[in-house]
Amino acid sequence: MAALIFLLLLYSSKNSYAFQEKMSTLETEGLRHSHVFQISSLLPSTVCNSSTKVMNRKSSLEVVHKHGPCFQSSQDRAKVPSHAEILSQDQSRVDSIHSSLYMNSMEEMDAVTLPTKIGISVGTGNYLVTVSFGTPGKKYALIFDTGSHFTWTQCEPCAGFCHDQVEPIFDPSKSRSYANVSCRAATCNQISAEGMQQDCSSSTCVYGISYGDSSSSAGFLAKEKLTISRSDVFPGYLFGCGQQNQFRKGNRVAGLIGLARGKFSFVAQTARKYKKIFSHCLPSDDSLTGYLTFGGTKLPKTIKFTPMSKSFQNTLFYGLDIIGINVGGQRVPIKSSVFTTAGAIIDSGTVITRLPPTAYAQLKSSFQKYMTSYPRAPALSILDTCYDFSRSDVIIAPTIGIVFNGGVEVDIDFSGIFYIRNESQACLAFAANKDANDVAIFGNVQQKTYEVVYDDVKGRIGFAPGGCN
Ligand SMILES: *[C@@H]1O[C@H](CO)[C@@H](O)[C@H](O)[C@H]1NC(C)=O
Ligand SMILES: *[C@@H]1O[C@H](CO)[C@@H](O)[C@H](O)[C@H]1NC(C)=O
Ligand SMILES: *[C@@H]1O[C@H](CO)[C@@H](O)[C@H](O)[C@H]1NC(C)=O
Repeated sequence: MAALIFLLLLYSSKNSYAFQEKMSTLETEGLRHSHVFQISSLLPSTVCNSSTKVMNRKSSLEVVHKHGPCFQSSQDRAKVPSHAEILSQDQSRVDSIHSSLYMNSMEEMDAVTLPTKIGISVGTGNYLVTVSFGTPGKKYALIFDTGSHFTWTQCEPCAGFCHDQVEPIFDPSKSRSYANVSCRAATCNQISAEGMQQDCSSSTCVYGISYGDSSSSAGFLAKEKLTISRSDVFPGYLFGCGQQNQFRKGNRVAGLIGLARGKFSFVAQTARKYKKIFSHCLPSDDSLTGYLTFGGTKLPKTIKFTPMSKSFQNTLFYGLDIIGINVGGQRVPIKSSVFTTAGAIIDSGTVITRLPPTAYAQLKSSFQKYMTSYPRAPALSILDTCYDFSRSDVIIAPTIGIVFNGGVEVDIDFSGIFYIRNESQACLAFAANKDANDVAIFGNVQQKTYEVVYDDVKGRIGFAPGGCN
């Protein structure tokens, strides 16, 4: 800490011999627990730079950000929501996760009065992949979401409403492999048990699903051929042919692919082939691409696994146990009961990691001690610890490590430490839950650049750094 402040002072006399000598000592000591970077390196490019990695991986899809240049043209991007809107939508998703888990625990206490899982589907995520539906197959951009379970796409004749989307809307009358599911089918009767609305229209099974950010889809439950790649084809995949669809502003996607738990989940429907294993890497910025891979491909040597938390086994979510937080290589003093009170989940659709209020307060206070040389900037929506870097050539920030059960430390990439509006407003990309009893959520900003491996048979989640490279 003291060494870092000293280093900052030395920056004003960059050319001195003392500086260079000190710098080399610090590189091996103090800087080992710091990120040194220029703010410009964190501002996303307006041009898409596609990674070649996905092409070399079996059973893989390219992952792009829904507001980034790899998906939307610059004209569309003028319509994307502001950072404040994105963060407020993120809060809606988090509120909905919290209330659905609260409902679930009520249900366990009193199974008689609350027979169904209520509102267990949440939010619509940020990253998307392109898959193909039908025969002949047509491609559709779908948001992938580890926090929701159902797959659906906007569907002709759009009897209710369809949004504008990039590709022509899926038309079942033009596919030889499409089939409605009948109201009498056993799968139709699973809809309400899986937390969705179930109905029947002239003997065709009807689903309805609503999300925490007030988006929703309703339509026919159907079976269709889903194609991931030439060697990854799933005939009779159960999905929703959405006739009445409601999204938030700025989405031009066709629908959603659900990777959470549950009978309709992609993971459950493809379990024979992929053994409930998938992994993803989310790129360091929105102008780059990542991947979503299905099945147990060769795991990177550097991967470390933490057990999935048993507390969430009966929910849609993948649970994790946080046991500590390191800032600048030092453990932040937080009582372990702060993390065990409500537990934690991992979610690809939540942007900002949410921590128990006490844990966040301690993280923030440790972080601020390293950042005293930068002027503060106003809060940005839910983010209250912001800095003005517009007059700094080089920024030095402490490393932040989240430690999971088994001592698995995820050293957050520097692209996951700040949420940046612009040079003059870069905020610590963590936020506090409102209540100590709300579940913590490991969000997508903090997952950036890691290969995150989900293995729901062995009950473990793995993290390997440098996953997108
Ligand atoms: C694209 O990304 C790679 C890896 O991040 C980088 O090395 C390369 O310079 C980038 N290319 C352009 C044109 O930005
Ligand atoms: C699916 O069911 C709907 C509603 O009953 C009907 O309008 C539509 O024609 C059916 N599609 C097929 C391919 O059977
Ligand atoms: C950053 O964004 C804020 C709000 O839009 C604006 O007031 C400020 O001038 C911007 N700063 C820079 C350096 O672009």
